[in-house]
Amino acid sequence: MKKKIVVFTGAGISAESGIRTFRDNDGLWNEYPVAEVATKFALEHNTEIVLKFYNQRRLAAAKAQPNFAHIALAELESTYEVIILTQNVDDLHERAGSSNVIHLHGQLNRAQSSIDSSIVYAWDKPIHIGQHCELNSQLRPNIVLFGEPVLHLEEARRHIKSADKVLAIGSSLTVLPAASLLKKAPYKAEKILVSLDVKGKIPYGYKFLRGKAANIVPAICKNWIL
Ligand code: OAD
Repeated sequence: MKKKIVVFTGAGISAESGIRTFRDNDGLWNEYPVAEVATKFALEHNTEIVLKFYNQRRLAAAKAQPNFAHIALAELESTYEVIILTQNVDDLHERAGSSNVIHLHGQLNRAQSSIDSSIVYAWDKPIHIGQHCELNSQLRPNIVLFGEPVLHLEEARRHIKSADKVLAIGSSLTVLPAASLLKKAPYKAEKILVSLDVKGKIPYGYKFLRGKAANIVPAICKNWIL
């Protein structure tokens, strides 16, 4: 049976693909107040602003290409069972070739019904006011807004609890409950965290490698495949 690697990713892994992070100096939350563009309240009261913000994100993600870090993670599948738990809403892991990607915070390339979150459509265009789902409610991005529950949390917990190795990449570790998943890794698992910086506490047992994902992750993966 193949050994299992659980990878946990945040915005930093896509930074070198040209997608902006949230909390770095040039991060999105420094330009757009979270309360105005990324909360349930904002979606209900300022729908157009929220749709516009995520329409811009969708366009930026569609133009971006996977970088060496995304590609190296996909290559791990030659030797390991690999589960990617991502906070990212882009599809760069999938486009790099990873086959088991769990999106904790949703996906930009999907639209969902405003009244029934189980109604989801593949969506690569902007979402506009007046575009409705089959239940005749406004379409919205398939993104977890602040105030909404994280997706697939139990499944993610199950995976990390049974990991032989855990590799966390490019997250400030500030957003819960996603970041707290790292603490569920087994004591005996090899655990590495790669990031330029971390705002939260480095979880117990993780070896911290400071640097850019596209420089460091390929070397880790190559070493694990040997
Ligand atoms: P953040 O923007 O909070 O953190 C990105 C992290 O990546 C920072 O710690 C950077 O130091 C690091 N970083 C930047 N460039 C890097 C690079 N080239 N290589 C490696 N690391 C790099 O992003 P997340 O932690 O992903 O949620 O944010 C978590 C959640 O907060 C997001 O999913 C989003 C946001 O609000 C929602 O919108 C629900």
